[in-house]
Amino acid sequence: MIRDIKPKSPISRLTRDYDADQLDRKVDVELAAAVLGMSRAFISRALKTRARPSVLTIEQVLDLLDVDNFQETFVPRSKVMDFLLRGSASSREAITAPCDGVHLQVGDARDLIPRLSPGEVRCVMTSSPYWGMRLYENQRDVHWADGEKCPYGFEQTPEGFIRHTVELLHLLKPALTGDGSVWWNVMDTFNTRTPIRGSARERLDAMVGRDAAKKGWTEHAACRHSAGHMYLADGEQSAIPMRIAERASRLGYRLRSFITWRKNGVTPEPARSRVSRQAEYVIHLTHGENAYFDKTAWQELPQQLGGPDERFESRERITDVWSLPSAGGQNGHGAEFPLALPGRCIALSSTVGDLVLDPFVGSGTTALAAVELGRRCIGFDISDEYLAVAKGRVTAAEERLARDLLDANVASGKAGPAQRRRRSRPSNEQLEAAPTA
Ligand SMILES: C[S@@+](CC[C@H](N)C(=O)[O-])C[C@H]1O[C@@H](n2cnc3c(N)ncnc32)[C@H](O)[C@@H]1O
Repeated sequence: MIRDIKPKSPISRLTRDYDADQLDRKVDVELAAAVLGMSRAFISRALKTRARPSVLTIEQVLDLLDVDNFQETFVPRSKVMDFLLRGSASSREAITAPCDGVHLQVGDARDLIPRLSPGEVRCVMTSSPYWGMRLYENQRDVHWADGEKCPYGFEQTPEGFIRHTVELLHLLKPALTGDGSVWWNVMDTFNTRTPIRGSARERLDAMVGRDAAKKGWTEHAACRHSAGHMYLADGEQSAIPMRIAERASRLGYRLRSFITWRKNGVTPEPARSRVSRQAEYVIHLTHGENAYFDKTAWQELPQQLGGPDERFESRERITDVWSLPSAGGQNGHGAEFPLALPGRCIALSSTVGDLVLDPFVGSGTTALAAVELGRRCIGFDISDEYLAVAKGRVTAAEERLARDLLDANVASGKAGPAQRRRRSRPSNEQLEAAPTA
């Protein structure tokens, strides 16, 4: 399953070899618009139809694939017809949102997202695997709409990774409330020859020659080559986050902001031919016209949960450059983000009791921020080991918050005798659970 990445762009062409029955087949216009990357208004204009059609024939789709402005979203041009003719598989048992607290589920996000109930998630906050950067625990192949079968983040080309990310965004849309937000944290990848390791520390050690095993770059569990791409030269930046943002807009999301996360405290890279990276990106997308957004909510937050850091930010206004620390990595996850990042996004785009989703929850940082802010949360991850860490962190936070509430009630005389007895004799689990955040 783990194989090297060789970014050799495949060469495929659109065929027009369809019989009359197939050309007459009708497909839902919403799905067609998503794979064509065109708004419904533009489709009507291009087809010269007065009313906005609710279905398109396969012949009309073929016509639209020839329009100058066509650009792929999550299925390459040569495979759009097959994708639409295939139809979508029926989804399995629904995933019910928790009435309270956090629900964590092991599995592949591509498989689990379509099982979410429609219109319930007000805020998606996530950091997906980045392209060709890390080996994660328990990673496994995912079957994608473009026909590629690979773990997410292990695509052969950056275009494959962009398509898969955009496919996930397409699948997420029905689960969002009409005024919901998506915050997608992603970093760019340089098209370089490199081993793929489990953490940033390991990668950096190798780059400066402190690789304990002294292995060559191709001798590791996996490596990434740079030759064969359609246009990217060796060492060039792939511009992945910007291209995801553009395609998300073609899917019908509104691109609200393209935020630069300036990471405080990163180790400079040894590359001599370019500046060192200090930025990651957060793409803020909304579903509808009137998305919920409370700009002032940020000002009330403690700094640890993403409130203003007055060394870098003015309390008066939040901008599209966020100065936040990188995570310490103390939870055994190679790619954890700091609590401040989900804290800030969740506070800006949801209210108490709302449902937050992180389809790549890892060590549970988003779930922790949701608990701290009184939101409900669903988290998925393919690794049961990471989810065990997430569960431990969430339980510790919930217990600490329950103790704080009880203390406040005892202090104000509101606690009943049973509550007071419980407060004076904490359970073994409570005693053992050490807060980690
Ligand atoms: C960048 S990390 C997320 C880290 C998280 N934000 C945290 O603070 O711990 C990406 C996560 O995606 C998970 N992952 C990779 N492929 C997946 C898939 N197909 N479905 C669900 N999770 C997946 C990895 O196990 C990893 O934990």
